[in-house]
Amino acid sequence: MTQRTLTFEIFRFDPFEPGDKPTMQSFELEEAPGMTVFVALKQLREQQDPSLQFDFVCRAGICGSCAMVINGVPTLACRTLTANYPQGRIKLMPLPGFELIGDLSVNTGKFMRQLSERIGAWLHPKKAVHSFDAIEQKMEPHLAEAIYETERCVECGCCVSACATAQIRETFVGAVGMNKVARFALDDRDVREVDDFYHVIGDEDGVFGCMTLLGCADTCPKDLSHQAQIGYLRRKLALHPRII
Ligand code: SF4
Ligand code: SF4
Ligand code: FES
Repeated sequence: MTQRTLTFEIFRFDPFEPGDKPTMQSFELEEAPGMTVFVALKQLREQQDPSLQFDFVCRAGICGSCAMVINGVPTLACRTLTANYPQGRIKLMPLPGFELIGDLSVNTGKFMRQLSERIGAWLHPKKAVHSFDAIEQKMEPHLAEAIYETERCVECGCCVSACATAQIRETFVGAVGMNKVARFALDDRDVREVDDFYHVIGDEDGVFGCMTLLGCADTCPKDLSHQAQIGYLRRKLALHPRII
């Protein structure tokens, strides 16, 4: 690999600093073999500007913290190689649709917590047994696999930032919200029926507001099948006799 110099254009703004204004700041950095955007940001912070704000925890595509917009596409900085950009120019913006903490750092945690509380994203068991001796309830392997597939979401927020509907309607639950609802609608241990879910996502803030252009599926770093989950929920809600 030929050594080259990368040019980064990075969004800078501290919303808590009175009088501060959003700007783009340029940095240059020597590329290293196998370098990710996250590694580059870490070096920039260590070597050039300790005030640069961005988030990370796992560095392995698991925690979802390092999501940002890289050359126009919401994605994970720790899973994005600088080699993917042959021109060597990389523009970094914070994820839109979330509260800005500063520079590239946004508060996805607050968004995800409010979303989970709103849609009741936890198991509502048919019968709650509080005993250490209780035996695990059996589940068909194909159902366990379908639930596991939805559970792979790392709450990075890329699908929300890539979604035009979520950007124009703050109350839209987004693909991440519909994925969470699908997870509990699939689970036969959950006491909620279809009309309970209808009250949560059976309107334009949920499945009927989604335009199915699948920006969510294009950007999800875990390749979750949003099309399948949205289609599953639409069919389930539209065909249910008690809500027609
Ligand atoms: S398919 Fe629906 S949830 Fe996904 S990006 Fe489009 S409007 Fe948003
Ligand atoms: S569904 Fe995909 S893009 Fe959306 S929050 Fe989960 S992992 Fe991220
Ligand atoms: S640092 Fe955890 S997903 Fe990138």
